[in-house]
Amino acid sequence: MQPLVIAPHGILQGAFTPPGDKSVSHRAVMFGALSAGKSHYTHFLEAEDCLNTLKAFRNMGVPIQHVPGSGEITIEGVGLKGLRAPSETIDLGNSGTSIRLMLGILAGQKFEAILSGDESLAKRPMKRVTQPLKKMGAQIKGKDDGNFTPLTIRGGKLQGIYFDNKLSSAQVKSALLFAGMQAEGITTIQENLPSRDHTERFLRACGAKFSQEGNLLKIEKTESLKALQGEVPGDISSAAFFIVGAAMTQGSEIKIERVSLNPTRIGLLKVLERMGAKIQIQQTSEIPEPQGNLLIRGTSLKGTRIAPEEIPSLIDEIPILMIAMALAEGESLISGAAELRVKESDRLHSMVSNLKSVGGDADELPDGCIIRGRSEFQGGKVQSYYDHRTVMSFCIGALRSKNPIEIDDKTSVSTSFPTFFDQLNKLRKR
Ligand code: S3P
Repeated sequence: MQPLVIAPHGILQGAFTPPGDKSVSHRAVMFGALSAGKSHYTHFLEAEDCLNTLKAFRNMGVPIQHVPGSGEITIEGVGLKGLRAPSETIDLGNSGTSIRLMLGILAGQKFEAILSGDESLAKRPMKRVTQPLKKMGAQIKGKDDGNFTPLTIRGGKLQGIYFDNKLSSAQVKSALLFAGMQAEGITTIQENLPSRDHTERFLRACGAKFSQEGNLLKIEKTESLKALQGEVPGDISSAAFFIVGAAMTQGSEIKIERVSLNPTRIGLLKVLERMGAKIQIQQTSEIPEPQGNLLIRGTSLKGTRIAPEEIPSLIDEIPILMIAMALAEGESLISGAAELRVKESDRLHSMVSNLKSVGGDADELPDGCIIRGRSEFQGGKVQSYYDHRTVMSFCIGALRSKNPIEIDDKTSVSTSFPTFFDQLNKLRKR
């Protein structure tokens, strides 16, 4: 446990490039490993979650060169059939994306592997992935009928299925696309609310037998994937803390450079604009992922409603949006967000109870929350629940607190944004 005290009051000024996108960094390693040839990426996210993915593929015989601190990785792909049985249990730490996507990959591999993680991962439901994968033909065992880690998976001959992605989960969709690429027949995934589309972008760029018609995604057995080279765009989910911090504090002005503007990820910007935020968006490139710069100036924000259809486009940004709402004028409502209960912590509970303990006014709902805005927080104690986004959210909340905010443990931040505190120190002015 590493406790932390964040001083009250402040604004944000300056420019920064957010670390590489976490979702894209995981997929860069996975697609690189399964490709034929050498893939190379710059601005790879060197955070615990993505390093766990990297280590897992090294354990399965994939040569990966990475000089820590460089942000560069080179992956010597072994092809779709070249992975080797790991010599030990694969420990994926805190990373739900790693384990769920890897289950899809391993479902088509002819060896046994045991996948495990930390205490928080052990509480997160895996049946959403293991059930359809079992239907496709994979053998998966784990507590509660394959719902909880450790999971033992033995891949094999798979058959395509039709799957309705009712949870709008990009992790579930991606796992099934990885499995579908190794299955006989066609795997069809129906997605009514679009979730992040990074896997689809990789599939197209790598030349997989993938197509999309409206809300139906179709994948067929693919013989080989092309290796890719590129830059991982900045993570809007990490930038989000500074975007909100600047947007809600008068006198702030920050420029965020080279951040992903993927349309499936920018719900945060739309909600903030509705709240009255001053944000200028400048797109600089389109391929492989839309990317650009943002200029944010502080102002006073007003409350808003986030509807169920918007949730997938801002799923990871809800904790920091709850801070913005708690300090906005009027009432805000979030609904259709029950998925938040099964993230790194139960985020509806962890955020609402922490908001209350620093002087915010909020109530939990089964699938969301109601927040009544206050002009400032009083300060007080926050529990991290080993959830990186809870910790970073309250560090930003302190910018509008009367007294310090004490957080019981800051270590979880290294799972996604190890340089967060350095950035905060650089950008924060009194
Ligand atoms: C992710 C998808 C989302 C998101 C997670 C990363 C991904 O999870 O919350 O941080 O990279 O596919 P769900 O798909 O479970 O909603």
